[in-house]
Amino acid sequence: MKGRPLLPFAVTAIVGILLMISLSIVGLNQRAEMNADPAEEEAPTEFEDPVTAGQELAQQSCIGCHGGDLGGGAGPALTGLDGVYSVEEIADIILNGKGSMPAITNLNDVEADAIAQYLLAEAQ
Ligand code: HEC
Repeated sequence: MKGRPLLPFAVTAIVGILLMISLSIVGLNQRAEMNADPAEEEAPTEFEDPVTAGQELAQQSCIGCHGGDLGGGAGPALTGLDGVYSVEEIADIILNGKGSMPAITNLNDVEADAIAQYLLAEAQ
């Protein structure tokens, strides 16, 4: 009788420890995946459709100063820039600022380029 009841406990303990180890390995893998994704979203390296992406980004980053329809506000209208600035020049204004416009520092050059393409393609 003595000692016998210990065996099931030992088996349970070993199974429990193995389960703990395997679950923490699974958990570490999942954490690595979770950490990888947001970083990619924050800094896109390419847009499939730059004009549409640029429109969304302009709504988030530019209308506060340039007006809801980009028709002008604290800053000048951003419509009718075609022929005035190139995509490169607009991206440069976004990233580095111009005169009293501050640099928009939460955008990377791919995003700035997409906004510039949108402004020249559609916001006329
Ligand atoms: C904090 C306010 C502010 C924000 C936000 C802002 N701008 Fe401006 N922007 C200005 C002001 C003010 C000017 C006029 C600068 C000057 O010439 O002195 C300007 C000028 C410009 C010009 C030059 C226009 C021209 O006719 O010469 C472009 C292009 C431009 N902004 C694009 C953008 C884009 C694209 C965004 C969003 C990514 C943006 N701006 C966000 C304030 C802002």
